[in-house]
Amino acid sequence: MRERLMTEPMPNPLVPRHPLDPLDADEIAIACAAVSARSGAAAQLRFVNVEMDEPHKDRVMAWRAGQPVPRAAFVVALRRDTGAAFEARVDLASGTVTEWRALAQDKSPFGQPAVMVEEFQAVERAVKKDPAWRAAVARRGLSEAEIDLVQVDPFSAGHFGYVEEAGRRCVRAVCYYRESLKDNGYAHPIEGLVAVVDLNREEIVTLVDEPELVPIPKKKRNYEAKDLPPPRTDLKPLHIVQPEGPSFTVDGWKVEWQKWSFRVGFTPREGLVIHQLGYEDGGRVRPIIYRASVTEMVVPYADPTANHYWKSAFDAGEYGLGRLANALELGCDCLGHIHYFDVPAADDLGRPMVMKNAICMHEEDYGILWKHNEFRTGVHETRRSRRLVISFFATVGNYDYGFYWYLYQDGTIQLEAKLTGIIQTAAVAPGQPYPWGGMVDEGLGGPTHQHFFNVRLHMMVDGDEGNSVSEHEFHPRPWGRDNPHGNVFDLVSRPLLRELDAAREADGRTGRYWKVSNPNRVNSVGNAPGYKVIVQPTPVMLAQPGSYVHARGGFASKHIWVTPYDPAERYASGEYPNQHQGGDGLPRFVAANRGIDNADVVLWHSFGHTHVCKPEDFPVMPVEYAGFMLKPNGFFAANAGIDVPADRDAASKRHGGDGGCCAG
Ligand code: NI
Repeated sequence: MRERLMTEPMPNPLVPRHPLDPLDADEIAIACAAVSARSGAAAQLRFVNVEMDEPHKDRVMAWRAGQPVPRAAFVVALRRDTGAAFEARVDLASGTVTEWRALAQDKSPFGQPAVMVEEFQAVERAVKKDPAWRAAVARRGLSEAEIDLVQVDPFSAGHFGYVEEAGRRCVRAVCYYRESLKDNGYAHPIEGLVAVVDLNREEIVTLVDEPELVPIPKKKRNYEAKDLPPPRTDLKPLHIVQPEGPSFTVDGWKVEWQKWSFRVGFTPREGLVIHQLGYEDGGRVRPIIYRASVTEMVVPYADPTANHYWKSAFDAGEYGLGRLANALELGCDCLGHIHYFDVPAADDLGRPMVMKNAICMHEEDYGILWKHNEFRTGVHETRRSRRLVISFFATVGNYDYGFYWYLYQDGTIQLEAKLTGIIQTAAVAPGQPYPWGGMVDEGLGGPTHQHFFNVRLHMMVDGDEGNSVSEHEFHPRPWGRDNPHGNVFDLVSRPLLRELDAAREADGRTGRYWKVSNPNRVNSVGNAPGYKVIVQPTPVMLAQPGSYVHARGGFASKHIWVTPYDPAERYASGEYPNQHQGGDGLPRFVAANRGIDNADVVLWHSFGHTHVCKPEDFPVMPVEYAGFMLKPNGFFAANAGIDVPADRDAASKRHGGDGGCCAG
C-alpha cells in the first residue's frame, strides 16, 4: 500500500453554507475532539470514518438559503488497546456527542470498521517479527536480508466462520519477493503462505504454510518510467485549449454548467457524491437525482488455493474509496481547464487534513451531439457534443479505480468506472498449467475474478412527489391477424410495485430496461416524465449461493434493486462489511418487500466485469470500463440539445492543407 502524499494540514478552502456540504477542517476538529473526550482514552483512539451526518432528505428539501445550516458529524472510531469500536454523532454547533453506540463486533453477524492506513504498516511489523513466518519465507529460499525486503499486502480478511478469528480485528497478509524496495512485488508472489494478523495485538493468529513449495517467479516486471523500454517518439503534443476558460461556474460545493446544476460531496467510504442533480428547462430547475454515489464494490477471486480463495475485497466498506483517493495531477490525470476540489478529511488519529486535488472537474469534447445533412434542401446542421466530467481515482492496494460522472447536453447522465492498476498474481510451477486463471508471464498467473460496483441513485425525477419504476422489454408478436407480415414486436411493460418485484437481472436478448418516472406529472405527450436506466452487458456474481462471498456481496446477485428511501440504508453491502458474516445490505433491505410505487425511491444498480487475466494485463493493465447511463425518456418535450450553438472550432486545421473546418 503506498503512502498518500496529500496528508499535510492546510487551511480549509470551503466553509459550509449548505446542509449537504462536506465537513470543513474546523468541524472535523470539533467532532474528533468531542469523541476523544467522550471515549476517555484519547491516546488509544483511531478514527476510521469522520463525515458530515447527512440530514434527512425532507429536512434538506425544506431548508432555504439564509436559514441556519444544520451541521452534525458521524464518526466511527475504535480503540487500539481493546479493539472496542463505536459510532458517535456530534452536534457541531455545541460540540456535544448526541449519540454513542458500541458496535457488537464479537457477536454474530460480526462486522468491523474499515481497515485503516495506519494498520497497513502494523501488519508488516507483525508479520516480519514472527519467527514462524520468517522461517516459512526462508524455506522458500530467501535470505534474512531478502526477507526484510518482502512486500506484505494486508487484505481484508473476509469471514469464513473460523473460530480463532471470531470477534478479532483481522486481515490476511500475503507477500511478495522484491529485489529492491521499488521492485514490482506483484511479479514475484510467494505462494502458499498467508498470515492472518490480529490488528489490535499486532500478532499472527494463524499461519497458513502449504507444504508444497512453488518457486517464486523472479523475472523483473517493473513499470517505473526508467525501467521501461525507450518511449515511442512519434507523438506530437495535443493541447486542450479553452481561451475563454470553462463554461462551468463553481460556488463553494455548488456547480452550474449550462443547464445542469448539482452539488459536490465526498465521504470517506464512497468518495465522490453528486447531490441535487437537476436540469433547467422552461425556466425552472427540474430535479433528476437527489443523491448519487458508488456505495460498494467487491472483487471475488475464483481460485480455491490457500493464497486466493478468501480474496474478496469490499473496497468501499473495507477500505474506503474516499480515504484512498489520489491527489490528481494537472495535465496528466486531468487535461484541459481543470477545477479541483480539495476535500477536508480526518487522518487515522482524528487530525484534520486536506486531500488535495481529490476531485477533478472539466469539460471534454465528445464528438457529435446531433447532425443532419438534408440533400434535398441543402440544410445541414451539425452540433458537437460536450460533456462535463466530475471524477476521482482511488488506489486500493494493487488496483486503481477511476469513477467518472459525465453530464451531456441532451440530458444524459453517465457513470463510468475505469479499472486499472496491477492484477493479483499467483506463482505457477514451471511447466505446470494454471487452472484458476490466465498466465501473464513465465511462472506467473493471474487468478480469474469479478469486479462488482454498486451505485445508489436516490431518484427525484421531476419533483419530490414520488417516483415509480417500471420494467420494459421487447417480445416478438406471434403470427396472426394482428401480425400478418411477421414483422411486429411488442414493448411489454410492467410496473415494479414492491421491493421483491424489483430485484432484477438484465437480459440483452429481450433488450430489458428500466424507467424511473414521475406519475404525478404529465409530459408533452400526456405521459409521466421519466429517465431510462441503460445497463451494459454486465455479469452477476458467479460464486455459489451459500458461499461466504455470495452472502456478503449479495448486492451483486442482481443488477437492479429498488427500495423506498430510508436514511439508514446507505450502502449496498450494509454498514460494516469488513469481516461481516453476510446477509446484510440490499438482500436484507428488500426482504421487507415494502411498497415502491409513487414513492421516494432509491434505485441501486450493480454492474461490473469478469476478468480472465492475460499477458496484456501486466505489468500495469490498460483501463477496462464498466458503467451505465441514465437517459431522458419523455422528460423533455424535444431534443434537449437542440439549442446548442453551431460553433466552429477555430483552432482546427486541415492535415496537409492550410486550415478550414469540417463543413461540407
Ligand atoms: Ni480485474
